[in-house]
Amino acid sequence: MLNPKTLTFLVSSVFIVVTIAASFQTIVALDEGGNTNHVYSPCSDTRIQRSDGFTFGIAFSSRPSFFLNQTVLLSPCDRRLGLAAMNSQFSLFRPKIDEISLLSINTSAFFPDNYGGYMVAFAGRKYAARSSPAFIANSTFIVTSFTLVMEFQKGRLQNIYWKRDGCASCKGNSNFVCLNKQDCAIRTPSCKGRGGSVDCSLGIQLAFSGTDKHLAVLNSWYEVENLKQYSLYGLYSNLKSSLTNQFNNFF
Ligand SMILES: *[C@@H]1O[C@H](CO)[C@@H](O)[C@H](O)[C@H]1NC(C)=O
Ligand SMILES: *[C@@H]1O[C@H](CO)[C@@H](O)[C@H](O)[C@H]1NC(C)=O
Ligand SMILES: *[C@@H]1O[C@H](CO)[C@@H](O)[C@H](O)[C@H]1NC(C)=O
Repeated sequence: MLNPKTLTFLVSSVFIVVTIAASFQTIVALDEGGNTNHVYSPCSDTRIQRSDGFTFGIAFSSRPSFFLNQTVLLSPCDRRLGLAAMNSQFSLFRPKIDEISLLSINTSAFFPDNYGGYMVAFAGRKYAARSSPAFIANSTFIVTSFTLVMEFQKGRLQNIYWKRDGCASCKGNSNFVCLNKQDCAIRTPSCKGRGGSVDCSLGIQLAFSGTDKHLAVLNSWYEVENLKQYSLYGLYSNLKSSLTNQFNNFF
């Protein structure tokens, strides 16, 4: 059995995005040593190796706004969607490849349901990858915990997808509602700023799978699979104090 202490060495970077604005903002987390990837735009192509930073974006908007003609799911980088002119928001992240990271989006001043309530993660241009739109919130429910997997082949991003656990993490906890048999949701009116006392900040666990440009295998997905039952939230004291105290058996 692993306990949170043995996990900390796997998780050496946390990215807190402080800017959620109408356009792309400068990247908050700066590259540490070992970076060879000098592509900082989420709308450009790159090939990565382990130890690189990798920039991707998350767009927040309504579900239909991610589709062209209501049928074709496009990357938010694609101008044909016209997302920049809509009621949408973007945030940028630059995690380190093959490290499990927890992205945190503070919802104290940013209510996702004000921007359509869905999000799409994306990166790349010619080799654009985008996730399916994930429901975050409406006036009734908010989903606060997500796992995002980025799959690379020879260092090129192939696929971004949301990994769901079928509500295993909230089974039996009456503070949560299981939506569509896949997402653990809190009632929006119980959130701070919405009439309640719960910090409904979003947490996105990141994992990498596949191979880098030297064909080295990216392993962090394997680790997340195995660690799933120990949510990464528990490892971050700042998040922990604001999140764990709210529900005794949240973690
Ligand atoms: C979207 O609709 C427009 C106008 O109805 C049409 O000209 C265009 O070919 C359609 N694009 C796709 C990708 O279906
Ligand atoms: C979000 O921001 C508020 C106000 O700055 C702060 O009190 C709260 O602890 C933050 N929540 C998280 C999860 O960092
Ligand atoms: C919010 O979303 C949930 C899950 O998709 C749905 O069941 C509910 O009817 C929605 N509520 C509103 C007010 O749109």
